[in-house]
Amino acid sequence: MLQRFFGCVYLSAVSQLVTLTAECPVQLSQKSVVVEYGGSVAVNCTASVPHYGMGWEASEGGVDKTRDSVITWTVSDLREWDIKPICYINYKTTHDTLCEEELPVTIYKTPDSVSISIVNHRGPMKEGEQYELQCDVQDVAPVQNLTVKWYKGETLLDQTTFTDTSITPVNEVAKLLITAGRADDGAQYRCEAELDLGAEGPQPPPTVTSKPLSAEVNYKPKHSNSTETIIKNDEVMLNCTVMANPAPTYTWHSEHLKEEISSSTLPSSTLSPGEYTCTATNSLGSDSKVFIVKSTVAKQDRVGIPLASVYGLQQISSIFIKMKNNLLCFLGLSIIGIVSADSCSLEISPARVVVKFGDPVSVSCVASRPVRVLGWESVIAASHTQNDLSVQWRVDSLTDWIEEPICYGVFFTAPRQCEEKLNLVLYKKPDSVSISLVNHSSPVVEGREYQLQCEVQNVAPVQYLVLRWYRGKTEVYNHSFSELSPATPVQVSSTLLIVPNRADDGAQYRCEAELQLGAEGPQLPPTVQSEVLNIAVQYPPDFRSPEEEILDISEDSEIVLDCTAEGNPPPVYIWSSSNLQENTDNQPVLRAASLGPGEYTCTASNILGKKSKQFVIKHKSKGPETLRTNRRHTVLDGALRTFWTWEIKI
Ligand SMILES: *[C@@H]1O[C@H](CO)[C@@H](O)[C@H](O)[C@H]1NC(C)=O
Ligand SMILES: *[C@@H]1O[C@H](CO)[C@@H](O)[C@H](O)[C@H]1NC(C)=O
Ligand SMILES: *[C@@H]1O[C@H](CO)[C@@H](O)[C@H](O)[C@H]1NC(C)=O
Ligand SMILES: *[C@@H]1O[C@H](CO)[C@@H](O)[C@H](O)[C@H]1NC(C)=O
Ligand SMILES: *[C@@H]1O[C@H](CO)[C@@H](O)[C@H](O)[C@H]1NC(C)=O
Ligand SMILES: *[C@@H]1O[C@H](CO)[C@@H](O)[C@H](O)[C@H]1NC(C)=O
Repeated sequence: MLQRFFGCVYLSAVSQLVTLTAECPVQLSQKSVVVEYGGSVAVNCTASVPHYGMGWEASEGGVDKTRDSVITWTVSDLREWDIKPICYINYKTTHDTLCEEELPVTIYKTPDSVSISIVNHRGPMKEGEQYELQCDVQDVAPVQNLTVKWYKGETLLDQTTFTDTSITPVNEVAKLLITAGRADDGAQYRCEAELDLGAEGPQPPPTVTSKPLSAEVNYKPKHSNSTETIIKNDEVMLNCTVMANPAPTYTWHSEHLKEEISSSTLPSSTLSPGEYTCTATNSLGSDSKVFIVKSTVAKQDRVGIPLASVYGLQQISSIFIKMKNNLLCFLGLSIIGIVSADSCSLEISPARVVVKFGDPVSVSCVASRPVRVLGWESVIAASHTQNDLSVQWRVDSLTDWIEEPICYGVFFTAPRQCEEKLNLVLYKKPDSVSISLVNHSSPVVEGREYQLQCEVQNVAPVQYLVLRWYRGKTEVYNHSFSELSPATPVQVSSTLLIVPNRADDGAQYRCEAELQLGAEGPQLPPTVQSEVLNIAVQYPPDFRSPEEEILDISEDSEIVLDCTAEGNPPPVYIWSSSNLQENTDNQPVLRAASLGPGEYTCTASNILGKKSKQFVIKHKSKGPETLRTNRRHTVLDGALRTFWTWEIKI
C-alpha cells in the first residue's frame, strides 16, 4: 500500500522534496542512531505542524500512515545491515505536499575474536632481525570505524585503520614490522580492535584485546665495560654477570688461576693482583671482560678509615689501649689522625727502589717475629715461604708498569696478618726530546711573539720529570709534571713564549728532560737533551749614530761620510747628492778628498725598513780650525732644541 502511495505522488512531489527537505516539519528524537547488531532501537518522529498523515517507512518496524503527531520507529532485535528508516509527512492544505526525513542507522558488531601471532615464525626471535606481527580480527562491522592498536607492554607502537567500506561484518588482518632487540626479550605484545562510533555510539568505544604474545629474543652476551679495575677488598667481587639469552656460561682465565673457574663471580679477596679475564658465552657468541685486580691502597686508608667509621668511640678507646704502639692520636674525643700503624713487624729493604725499565730488581722482606707465612703479592713474581723470617721479591727484567708488590705476613700471634707495600718506581728515559718553533721556521722577526715547543716522547713516570729550557747555557724556564699520575709511559710537551729582539739573533735554544727520581735513583739523574735550535732574528736598519753630520773641508784631512747601519738582513745603501758623479751604490762609507761642499743623503734599507741620514760638507771657516761640527736635535722640556758641538784644532 505504501509503495502504491509513493507511486502516485512521486512525480508531483519531487520538485518540492528537493527544496523543502531542510524545512520538513518533523523532528526526530535522534539525528542518527548507532545500534549493536541484534540490539533494540526506538526513535520518535514528531510533527511540528497540523498534517494529513505521517508514517515511518522501514524494512522493519515501519509505522503506517496515521493522523497521530508522534510516531515511534522501534525494533527490538535489529539484524538488517542496510536498514534506512524514513519518517514522512503530508501537510499543508493539499494532500500532495509530502516531505520525508531519513534516520541514518549504523549497525555495529564487535569482533568475535582478536589474536596476535608472528608471521611464519615459531620459537625465540634473534636480536637484530626483522619479524612481522599479525593481528587477526574476526567478524567485525563496520570496518571503516575499526582501529587496530599495537602495544608493547603499555606503550602504543602503532595503529592500523582500514579503507574497506563494507557495512556488513568482515575478517581483517593488520600487520606490524618489528626489529627484535635485546630489550624486547620478555616483552608482551598485544593488539586491540577498537570500534570508534562517535558520540552516538557506546562510550568508551567497544574494544576487544588479543591475548598477549610474550616475545623471546635470543641475544649474545655483551659487557657494558670491557675492563674494570678492582681494588682488592674483602667485600668486592669480580662480577662478570651479564645479560644474555640463552643464559651464558662463564670461564675465567688468568696466569694466577691454577684451574679454569666457571662461576660468574670471583671474590677479590682470594686473588693475587693481576689480570683476570672472564668470558661469557652462549649459543650466539661470547664476550670477554678483563678485571685488573690491584692490591689494597695505602695502609693508612685501610687501618684508619674503617676504624673510625666502623667502631663507636668507646670501642676506639679500647682499641687505643690494646694497640698503644699504633699511635692512634686522640684529642678530647675526636680522632685527629693516625700517624702510623707500625705493628706490622715487617721490614722491606730497601724500602724504596728505583728500577730502570727492563733492569733486574731484588728486594727482601724480613719479619721481626715468628711468622707462619711470609710472602710477596705481585703480578709477575709472587712468592712465599713458611716459617722463614725473610723472603725475596726478585725479577730479572722488570717491564710491568702496573706492578705494586706487597709483602704480607701471617703470624702466630695478634695482629695475625699485616702487609707492607714496596715503594717501587719503574722508570724509562724518553725515546726522544725535540724542540721546534710552533707553526714557523727561523728566521723570526724582532718584536713579534713566537712559541717554542719541546716534545718528550715515551717517558715514565712523568710525575718525576722536569723539563728545562735553556737559552745558550742559561736555564730560562722549567716545567714539572708532578700533577700527573700515570705509571705508564706518556708523551708530554712544554711551550715557551718568546718575543725576540736584535740581541737574540743567533741565540741557541734547547730543552732537556730530566727524571728526578730521588736518592734511590741513579747518581746522575737520567737526562735527554734536544738538539739546539738556532734563532735568526731579523730587524730593520738602525744607524750607529743617527744625527746629521756637518763637516768642514780642510786641505790635509780626508772626508769620511759614515752611514753604517745595523740590520738583518744586512742593509743596502744608496747615496744621493747633486755633487756625486761616481757610482756609490751600496757603500756604507764614502771616503774621498774630492767630495765638494753640499748635502749628501744616505739611505740604508732592508726588507723590514728603511732609514736616512744627512751629511753637510762646508768650506773651512776662518779662526780656529774647526775639524768637525755636529748638530744634534733633541726634544727637551717639550721644545725642539738643537745642540752644536765643534771639534777645534788649537
Ligand atoms: C517517544 O514518545 C513517547 C510518547 O510521547 C514517549 O513516551 C517516549 O519516551 C518517546 N521516546 C523517545 C525515545 O523519545
Ligand atoms: C565511521 O567511519 C566512517 C567512514 O570512515 C566515518 O565517516 C564516520 O565518521 C565514522 N564514524 C565515527 C563515529 O567516527
Ligand atoms: C662503565 O664505564 C662507565 C664510564 O667509564 C662508568 O660510568 C660505569 O660506571 C662503568 N660501569 C661499570 C659496570 O663498571
Ligand atoms: C653481579 O652483577 C649482577 C648484575 O649486575 C647482580 O645482579 C648480582 O647481584 C651481582 N653479583 C654479586 C655477587 O655481586
Ligand atoms: C698552527 O697551525 C695550525 C694549522 O694551521 C693551527 O690549527 C694551529 O692553531 C696553529 N697553532 C698555533 C699555536 O698558532
Ligand atoms: C725551576 O725554576 C725555578 C726558578 O724559576 C727554581 O726556583 C726551581 O728550583 C726550578 N726547579 C727545578 C726542579 O729545577
